[in-house]
Amino acid sequence: MAGICIDKTKLDDDDVVVCRCKEVTLKEIREWIDRGYDTFDELKRLTGVGMGACQGRGCRDIIMKEIARRTGKSFDEIGTGTFRPPVKPVKLGTLTAANKEDPWEGKVVSH
Ligand code: FES
Repeated sequence: MAGICIDKTKLDDDDVVVCRCKEVTLKEIREWIDRGYDTFDELKRLTGVGMGACQGRGCRDIIMKEIARRTGKSFDEIGTGTFRPPVKPVKLGTLTAANKEDPWEGKVVSH
């Protein structure tokens, strides 16, 4: 049975996929940083990183480190970028349970 053989010694780190959700490589990130787009939110708008199913949990740190390394800026200077709620995964049961506690229940609301 024939299989695929990858010579790992020929792989460049440019080929590494840093955002698995959006299939963005380190090479793409480096090219955008070199063009002056050196914040996570700018890279997010340009490439979609951080907008996948994991909402950046898998790629944000890697990209932040690459921005810092390439620009020489500290994490404080770069900033973390914008987070959208929910920041952590929430079970649907938790949301529906919260919905049952209706503070307006039994009260008359006039318009
Ligand atoms: S790995 Fe980048 S959004 Fe999921």
